Amino acid sequence: MQTLPGFRDFYPVDFAARRYIFEGWRRVARSYGFVEYEGPTLESVDLYRKKSGGELVGQLFDFTDKGKREVALRPEMTPTLARMVAAKERDFKKPIKWFSMGSFYRYEKQQDGRLREFAQLNCDLFGDHSVAGEAEMIALAIDLFRTFGLTEKDFYVRINDRRVWEHFLSERGVTTERSEEFLQIIDKLEREREEVNVAKLATFGIALPELREFLARPAPILESLAVALADRGLQDFVRFDATIVRGLAYYTGVVFEVFATAHGRALAGGGRYDDLIKTLSDGSVDLPALGFAVGDVVLEKVLRATPHAAEKLEAAIRADHAPQVFGVIADETRRAEAVKLFSELRREGLRVDYPLAAMKVGKQFQLAEQAGAPFAIVVGAEWPQVKVKTLATREERVVPGESSGLLSLVR
Ligand code: HAM
Repeated sequence: MQTLPGFRDFYPVDFAARRYIFEGWRRVARSYGFVEYEGPTLESVDLYRKKSGGELVGQLFDFTDKGKREVALRPEMTPTLARMVAAKERDFKKPIKWFSMGSFYRYEKQQDGRLREFAQLNCDLFGDHSVAGEAEMIALAIDLFRTFGLTEKDFYVRINDRRVWEHFLSERGVTTERSEEFLQIIDKLEREREEVNVAKLATFGIALPELREFLARPAPILESLAVALADRGLQDFVRFDATIVRGLAYYTGVVFEVFATAHGRALAGGGRYDDLIKTLSDGSVDLPALGFAVGDVVLEKVLRATPHAAEKLEAAIRADHAPQVFGVIADETRRAEAVKLFSELRREGLRVDYPLAAMKVGKQFQLAEQAGAPFAIVVGAEWPQVKVKTLATREERVVPGESSGLLSLVR
């Protein structure tokens, strides 16, 4: 029996890597004043059919439940979040700054960096329509990668504003009903064959060279955001690129994606979606919104392929698994006292491990080293004194076998 395609088992070392990523995400999101929330993993399928749009609808893990409801495992957080905010908007001080981490499900084609169950961090800001808010969110996205040791050499943010294209289309007399269709062409422009692009654009009366010329020009609408990011010293992390439009239907303004320099896939994506709350609340709540999500799959690949980041990750996994203290029982007649002492240290919050059966002292030290414990506490002939041994230096001290005094030596 194997896992289903696109699903993962997390053995303890894999889970330690996930914890490292989640803890980094949580630390950085909180440092920007974001607070954590969660929503359900199963939702009515309509929520995504109506609100996500684009490719996602074809990738839903949907089914009919025993109550004959049409449901889907969540492929993304944004529609759920918008529903939650719209329902209780008055209860929250603005701006609302929330983050969430969890599993998401998309029935994707098998491809590198894409799974059917993956984790995302979502960070969203409601009630702010300023460029300062946009710069703040992009700065947060950047810090979410820097915290793992990645630099401007390893990743970059591509930024655009969907209104650039709205403007382009209205100048050419294309109706707004067709703008989503047009944006899907732009979204796939770099991946699609030239003749397909030419044919699709022709239905809008647009020639490919005309489009390419437009792409090469800087967009005045993004100038103030460029200045705000440069003021934060982030100019080396960002590139303005009108081909970025994002595949989801709800975006209305600034959109961005984070890419790994050495890996084609997106690490994160998001943007402004100022109309979603309004449509979800049938017009009763009008709240500007801006957010993004980072995925764990490409991030972990990039961390493992980037030497300085991989070292940090490996060290974190080792530290996650190692006990802080390994208890060595050198005299079996003292086992009861030893276990009592180790239990006291555990109650003080220390991670303590020791052999459950009698064993030669040499073998116990070998286990301590294999476990990666920095200290051994040896309970033996000296009792009620114990030996505290620093395993790296082999330094030894004999001290009273009491948790209160030991704590300061081994923390
Ligand atoms: P998204 O671009 O669909 O945006 O996904 C964000 C990130 O999730 C991607 O950049 C990628 O790292 C990861 N991801 C997506 N699908 C998969 C997959 N099948 N396997 C592995 N990783 C994946 C959204 O989901 C928006 N809801 C983000 C957002 C939040 N916009 C506003 N607020």
